[in-house]
Amino acid sequence: MKYKPLGASDVSASVLGLGAWVLGGGAVWGKDTDDRESVKTIQAALDEGMNLIDTAPAYGWGRSERVVGEAIRGRRDKAVVATKCGLWWADDRGSFFTELDGKRLYRSLRPDTIEIEVENSLRRLRTDYIDLYQTHWPSCPPEATPVPDTMACLLKLRDQGKLRAIGVSNVSLAELRENLECGPVVSDQFRYSMLHRQPEQDILPFCAQHNVATLTYMSLEQGLLTGKVGMDRQFSAGEFRTNTAWNPWYLPANRRKVLDLLGRWKTLTDKYHCTLAQLVIAWTAAQTGVTHVLCGTRNPAQLRENLGAADLALEPDDLARIRHDVVALGEPAPA
Ligand SMILES: NC(=O)c1ccc[n+]([C@@H]2O[C@H](COP(=O)([O-])OP(=O)(O)OC[C@H]3O[C@@H](n4cnc5c(N)ncnc54)[C@H](OP(=O)(O)O)[C@@H]3O)[C@@H](O)[C@H]2O)c1
Repeated sequence: MKYKPLGASDVSASVLGLGAWVLGGGAVWGKDTDDRESVKTIQAALDEGMNLIDTAPAYGWGRSERVVGEAIRGRRDKAVVATKCGLWWADDRGSFFTELDGKRLYRSLRPDTIEIEVENSLRRLRTDYIDLYQTHWPSCPPEATPVPDTMACLLKLRDQGKLRAIGVSNVSLAELRENLECGPVVSDQFRYSMLHRQPEQDILPFCAQHNVATLTYMSLEQGLLTGKVGMDRQFSAGEFRTNTAWNPWYLPANRRKVLDLLGRWKTLTDKYHCTLAQLVIAWTAAQTGVTHVLCGTRNPAQLRENLGAADLALEPDDLARIRHDVVALGEPAPA
């Protein structure tokens, strides 16, 4: 396993990280998770040197953090725990974001909600410090909190020893710059996959130039790029994969194109003796500006497979061929 520092911080995190959204379970994932298996998955990751574990309070309304807390008990020093603040559902502070599982979710980066959130996360994670604390989504109107106010609160929590490093997520380049002007932001987490390459236009080069670590998410397009979500797959109501605004590649006509493309990469998976998931993860990790790739991982079998990408180095011609193929696929057709 390779490790890279989170920006200028002293936190060294594995290049492949375990994404713990799925471990929160719930309707968004189509089927529930088994907490005992989730704990085993995280512990196996730590045993194999995958120390970066990304979670958030909103993943299963605290369940994902609780599972992470259970898994790291007795091995806290082996883990780089990344969690988030800014999605708030205790009351109506902040700006309404969305409704999920019957709960109204607000975007709030107000200091008073962050101070409550950090204590809740520390309790659920059974720890007295968080390695990387990220703002989940930027604050927005009508109740936008000025970035300096949010950053002042985060810096105070860092000075109190509750946070080792501060990161952001889902920000525009302008928002990232504004955060950086207020203090040391060591990482940016955002959606990036071979089928969703917009960050290559601005965020990725900027982060590379300014020593900001990048944590990519949905890099497997929620399993589509493993080749295991076939045309016959039935999705349940509320499953995030059916959210066509976020997941247009799951629409049948688009999915067909992706599956056909993946089929043509058999020459590559044969050459490297790897699976499609491993090929995709290795390609993602090799892109300019990408420092860390988060892979949502439900169980030990998926973990073992994804870990197999850690030492997979694709040759430049093959990296270029994959890029050529995904560019040729074009944009997904709308619903
Ligand atoms: N900051 C944000 O706003 C934000 C947003 C999204 C995600 N994230 C973070 O990024 C992480 C990764 O994103 P993600 O989980 O949404 O998407 P992802 O990593 O693209 O996909 C994860 C899903 O793909 C399937 N999968 C993974 N490995 C597999 C394998 N080897 N074989 C077959 N299927 C496999 C699993 O689904 P099944 O088990 O259901 O088949 C798994 O839950 C999240 O867990 C979270 O930590 C952050």
